[in-house]
Amino acid sequence: MCGIVGAIADRDVVPVLIEGLKRLEYRGYDSAGIAVVDGADIRRVRRTGRVAAMEDASAAEGFAATLGIGHTRWATHGGVTESNAHPHVSHGVALVHNGIIENHEQQRERLKALGYEFESQTDTEVIAHLIHHYLQDGADLLAALQRAVKELHGAYALAVVSRKEPERMVVARMGCPLLVGLGEGENFVASDVSAILQATRRVIFLEEGDTAEISRDAVRVFDGDDQPVQREEHLSDVSLSSLELGPYRHFMQKEIHEQPRALGDTMEAIIDAGGFEPTLFGKDADAVLREVEGVQILACGTSFYAGSVARYWIEAISGLPCSVEIASEYRYRTAVANPKHLVVTISQSGETLDTMEALKYAKSLGQDLTLSICNVPESAIPRASRLVFYTRAGAEIGVASTKAFTTQLVGLFALAATLAKVNGRLPEAKEAEYIEALRHLPGDVQHALNLEPQVAMWSEHFTPREHALFLGRGVHYPIALEGALKLKEISYIHAEAYPAGELKHGPLALVDDDMPVVVIAPNDSLLEKVKSNMQEVRARGGQLFVFTDADSNFADSEGVHVIRTERHVGVLSPIVHTIPVQMLAYHVALARGTDVDKPRNLAKSVTVE
Ligand code: M6R
Repeated sequence: MCGIVGAIADRDVVPVLIEGLKRLEYRGYDSAGIAVVDGADIRRVRRTGRVAAMEDASAAEGFAATLGIGHTRWATHGGVTESNAHPHVSHGVALVHNGIIENHEQQRERLKALGYEFESQTDTEVIAHLIHHYLQDGADLLAALQRAVKELHGAYALAVVSRKEPERMVVARMGCPLLVGLGEGENFVASDVSAILQATRRVIFLEEGDTAEISRDAVRVFDGDDQPVQREEHLSDVSLSSLELGPYRHFMQKEIHEQPRALGDTMEAIIDAGGFEPTLFGKDADAVLREVEGVQILACGTSFYAGSVARYWIEAISGLPCSVEIASEYRYRTAVANPKHLVVTISQSGETLDTMEALKYAKSLGQDLTLSICNVPESAIPRASRLVFYTRAGAEIGVASTKAFTTQLVGLFALAATLAKVNGRLPEAKEAEYIEALRHLPGDVQHALNLEPQVAMWSEHFTPREHALFLGRGVHYPIALEGALKLKEISYIHAEAYPAGELKHGPLALVDDDMPVVVIAPNDSLLEKVKSNMQEVRARGGQLFVFTDADSNFADSEGVHVIRTERHVGVLSPIVHTIPVQMLAYHVALARGTDVDKPRNLAKSVTVE
């Protein structure tokens, strides 16, 4: 959470900072601010709310400078107020921070005793004072930063400028992403490349514990022992157009509609590899996957639901035991480690703190067989894993995850099939059948997208409600969970999902004619069971909204609304049935007038506990 951008150039960098913050707004949108070095002064503007409000204020105050830093905040320590917004300033030192400083209270007491006064409730302000303290002690800006970070416990990405050193900014990274962008006679720093794509594609990803000094013509990087190091330069392939809305109203809508392309790109790797080959997961994969005797999946939110679908696939297709657990729970329990189990972390962003910490915990227990399914190359979680499968969804901007989820499912399906293959459980004919199903997937998803007008018409049944239930069975139960999460996340309607067979064990008490009940009911082996569960709902007056496929012979009747996908697509059915629940959430949110891409209280990238 929180986005950082910084720039040093011969031109005015304020437009670069503002544009960068707009691109980073998905990381947090409680407040925004910039600080620039202007002559011998630091000038700062901060506003609660969106970057646009801060942009207006900076324009009104005539901000222009060749060195500056900016920040967009997702509040943790301290409320959403201007005084808690970044940059924080201490006696001519300005700083922006992403992360959480765990020992901020001790540092605050110590700095107060040294005479520093605090104007915010944030954990960040201590860092600004600490750096100033070391500057007073005779250190230069880089040395002061390097001394200060050694006293911090927690996670940070930092960018710092000083009115006394107008020719450079200094930065540090531990536990939060930070990259340096390399220009011609100008350089940049950002939480992610989207913030600086307007200026450069050449980037250096800082590693854990790194600090760096960035001037117009040079970038010097130092490791955690303050020794100079070289970090590899990369050329980003993120396109600017992927960050634009184009003809769509919202990024979520755009990303829902991009799924045929995203799925096609993601499975291209499988087709190129000639099938379900271990090389899909990296060079080492053959040796690693052959050792695997079980799978432990760790993830959060929508990625956890992808893992929940994968559990059905992995056990059914590869015959290996598979468990799936919410990362934030796993990391704090006494787990029984099995070094022969593959630890699979799933994360769209690759930087979710709970997932990263769960991975570290698993490794600390001796679980060395690790694989990450991720959408962001070079992000922290895949870098900490031995094997990786990169989904090719492209940048996902909407806070509600859509194309990342369905492409994760493709990666997880490939894992299930590959594990089966290395264990001699995937006959050639079955492999060919699966590949064929994958080839058809973008078309099947497109057919589901074509149902949008029908789904949109359903939204009127949900818009006035405060509650909804979602039901599914088997591999479609996690799709019900995903549908409920999407609806609550962006429309603020309370929604819960249950395995349909569980209804009679309690939640049926909630059902009356005010409760819309969404059912994922494809024509699979559980269809008849689901039909019985639906009768239980109808008998209590509940309105049913059924997503099924043309093969299931459902018809509309009193209190039963039915939308059919074109055909039952077999094993990949959960992917196709995700599309209508995404569209339902989108259209209900639209009708309720919420901020679809930036729902209240949330952020895209959750780098705090
Ligand atoms: O980046 P990750 O996949 O690790 O993120 C995990 C969750 O925070 C994320 O899926 C969240 O639940 C989404 N906002 C759901 O739409």
